[in-house]
Amino acid sequence: MTNAPVASGDRSEGHFDHDFVRQFDRLLRWRRDVRRFTDTPLDEDLLGELIAAAELSPSVGNSQPWRWVDVRSPAPRRAVEESFIRCNAEALAGYGGQRAQHYSTLKLAGLGEAPVHLAVFCDLDSGQGHGLGRRTMPETLTYSVVTAITSFWLAARARDVGVGWISIIDPAEVCTALSVPDTWELVAYLCVGYPEREDVVPELEQSDWQARTDPADRYIVR
Ligand SMILES: Cc1cc2nc3c(=O)[nH]c(=O)nc-3n(C[C@H](O)[C@H](O)[C@H](O)COP(=O)(O)O)c2cc1C
Repeated sequence: MTNAPVASGDRSEGHFDHDFVRQFDRLLRWRRDVRRFTDTPLDEDLLGELIAAAELSPSVGNSQPWRWVDVRSPAPRRAVEESFIRCNAEALAGYGGQRAQHYSTLKLAGLGEAPVHLAVFCDLDSGQGHGLGRRTMPETLTYSVVTAITSFWLAARARDVGVGWISIIDPAEVCTALSVPDTWELVAYLCVGYPEREDVVPELEQSDWQARTDPADRYIVR
């Protein structure tokens, strides 16, 4: 994977004009969690480009603790899908009445359709960064991986590629299926591919499960 975004000594390249800022805000608004994919394959170089973009993310102590596993073999894919089916059934059993009925109608993963499955781990044992910032908040190592996933998500959306994050799986089962080192913690299992359609409204809002709420309710000043 040699698709690192171009580095340049030209300082003006580090300035972003108003038009770009508007486009970037539009990208944020149009990023979606995608569970419905077309059967169009994703070019391997394009996947490399997305990972290269995500590699530019911030990380505590510059530790870059993210590890990408491109899950191609049928056996681990099947194991993850089975884990999802079981965990989703358990989640459904945790709801009652109307809420359970509603939950059962939601599509919460596109594992069968997505051409690319990407498991993203945090290497808890990585020495990179020499522990800087982690003595007080060790969890920042995992947070660093989340920043990379967000970058990946946005870089994908900017290229018309959709990403769906699946957490309704048993991380231990995923680790076993992928035979990763014991020190790797699963942070995300991503489905990646071309979305069936674009929408500015989150799917869970469209299906009346949960709408976005007022940002003012989450902002305080001290
Ligand atoms: C950590 C994390 C885990 C998620 N897990 C799931 C999941 O298992 N299944 C699912 O359908 N969506 C999952 N999502 C997607 C959210 O449901 C989605 O981000 C939210 O509904 C808002 O929609 P949007 O991403 O399209 O704006 C997850 C998102 C995050 C950030």
